[in-house]
Amino acid sequence: FLGWLGLPSSITDADLKEIEETAASLRSKCEVVIVVGIGGSYLGARAVIDALNNAFDWLQHDRKNPVVVYAGNNIGEDYLYELMTYLKGKSFGIINISKSGTTTEPALAFRILKGELEKVVGKEEAKHRIVAITDAARGALHTLAKQEGYKMFVIPDNVGGRFSVLTPVGLLPIAVAGFNIRQLVEGAAYMEENTSPEVTFDKNIAEQYAVVRNELYKKGKKIEILANFNPKLHYVAEWWKQLYGESEGKEHKGIFNASVYFTADLHSRGQWIQEGERSIFETVLSIEQPNHTVEVPADADDLDGLNYLKGKNVDFVNQMAALGTPLAHVDGGVPNLKLEMPQLNEFYLGQFIYFFEKECGISGYLLRVNPFDQPGVEAYKTHMFSLLHT
Ligand code: PA5
Repeated sequence: FLGWLGLPSSITDADLKEIEETAASLRSKCEVVIVVGIGGSYLGARAVIDALNNAFDWLQHDRKNPVVVYAGNNIGEDYLYELMTYLKGKSFGIINISKSGTTTEPALAFRILKGELEKVVGKEEAKHRIVAITDAARGALHTLAKQEGYKMFVIPDNVGGRFSVLTPVGLLPIAVAGFNIRQLVEGAAYMEENTSPEVTFDKNIAEQYAVVRNELYKKGKKIEILANFNPKLHYVAEWWKQLYGESEGKEHKGIFNASVYFTADLHSRGQWIQEGERSIFETVLSIEQPNHTVEVPADADDLDGLNYLKGKNVDFVNQMAALGTPLAHVDGGVPNLKLEMPQLNEFYLGQFIYFFEKECGISGYLLRVNPFDQPGVEAYKTHMFSLLHT
């Protein structure tokens, strides 16, 4: 399962071109592209797309990029109904991602959405709007894609789902959304080089983070909270939770990982963090420089008392919150780590993805568990299938 280690440096120009060409074809045909997948088969793409997208872009009519929406990550009937209602009258396509090709949630969503697409554009045209990303030889999705003649990408055998964001699993949806996958891969390759075994511990940030969090765990800090001060990082935290949760939580061991979104959660779980059970440590993910500026205006009446901030950027206030919060939390007995990203763009997100993957692998070994399997997720399936078949 170590294929992901060399993904960024080994991806070829031809690989990237094939992904870009497929993305261009979907972009030319579709106003909406549905990414069908669950867990590692969609969270990486969503993390990058949500981080880079204009938060309100999907509401615009004169968009230059297709809207990317997601399905197959839940079994909500209303969700699917509302998605199909939204799709009415729009040209759409589907990227169906499942490494095993047998996961119930995406299979169910795909069956329904494929039917809808074929109804609207006909079976022949639907084939040109569906892309399958799956195993090289096995699984129902592989068989279906071959039979129908869908464009197919392969997830290498030695790359597990949650480590697959730098394969077409992540790169195709990201390219469809209009972002630069070459810069993302470049950022990841930079981190691959800078966290390689040749880089000594004093310079190797993946090793340092792994050691610190595992030492904290040994000292009773059983919960790690990933905190961020930027709503655009919501799905980066969701991706992180999935990567670490499935990799570390086994054999009755492992840090439980949670995420908080500041400053919103400072008005909710901030109380627990400050004064609740002392079993947590906090890792703050921060962005040094926003991509845009909004100044605080002067106000003649100053009834809200904010004139002392006039002329300052909103981010200045956010930065002070980001500096003040860890001070308060450390005072309250919560150890704090900080991970800084200079700016939110493809290059730095690529670095972060690789950094977390590398750290997660090392952490698993420090914990003496196999970070690349997930035997525990089968338990719910066994019960669900026996209930479904009764
Ligand atoms: O990381 C993993 O292996 C899992 O989260 C899988 O990505 C997830 O269960 C989806 O599996 P599949 O791609 O086989 O449908």
